[in-house]
Amino acid sequence: MKICQTETYEAMSFQTARLIAETVAEKPDCVLGLATGTTPVGAYRLLSEWCREGKLSFARVRTVNLDEYLGLSEEDPHSYHFFMQEHLFRYIDARPENLHLPCGTAADPEAACRSYEDLIASLGGIDLQLLGIGRNGHIGFNEPGVSFDSGTHIADLTESTRAANARLFEHPSDPPSRAITMGIRTILSAKRILLAASGPEKAEALERAFTGPVTEQVPASVLQRHPDVVLIADREALSGLARRGFAGP
Ligand code: PGA
Repeated sequence: MKICQTETYEAMSFQTARLIAETVAEKPDCVLGLATGTTPVGAYRLLSEWCREGKLSFARVRTVNLDEYLGLSEEDPHSYHFFMQEHLFRYIDARPENLHLPCGTAADPEAACRSYEDLIASLGGIDLQLLGIGRNGHIGFNEPGVSFDSGTHIADLTESTRAANARLFEHPSDPPSRAITMGIRTILSAKRILLAASGPEKAEALERAFTGPVTEQVPASVLQRHPDVVLIADREALSGLARRGFAGP
């Protein structure tokens, strides 16, 4: 694993956006795996700016998002479809038909999971998968206890994850309790993984993921098995790893 330590959220966002932009420059029709959450918002803002300034084009890029809540329509402001439009897709020159998320309103969610796996395979696999990390070590909606052999599947969200996401909803009981998420196997099949993290509340999760045993109780620990992981994080998020002598300069 390569670690890139920054001082601030803004610098973490810059490094994250830069790695994504380099990937697009090297392979204009690359497949980007994208994530939602607070962490990537700054990077998406920079990518939007660079695209508007003509420094970068997503014209041939294909994207696949990690996850989507079950039961929320694309127009629901809490859906990840909506999030991606608001934070990235509406600002870039990508073709709408090349932007994919799991379907949260599928009549047959199990079939939607299978077709999402087929879609990723038909695109030729993911070149770069962007990930955040949950305080409990989740990646995507792969919560503690998930099988490392999971493909795209329906996940029951833990109370801690629903509580963490409740800040984005009007009422604490509003976050859906289920989602469609890429599985650990899906994520690990990406050629390169970019894990971004910011803030002290991520320090323990990163420490457990990268200095502890590889265990399904800490889903992100499986990243120890991937040959090309780049961790871009600010000093506070890396404080646990630094204590163990892991962090970069
Ligand atoms: P966050 O979420 O970026 O909002 O912190 C990350 C995650 O839970 O995977």
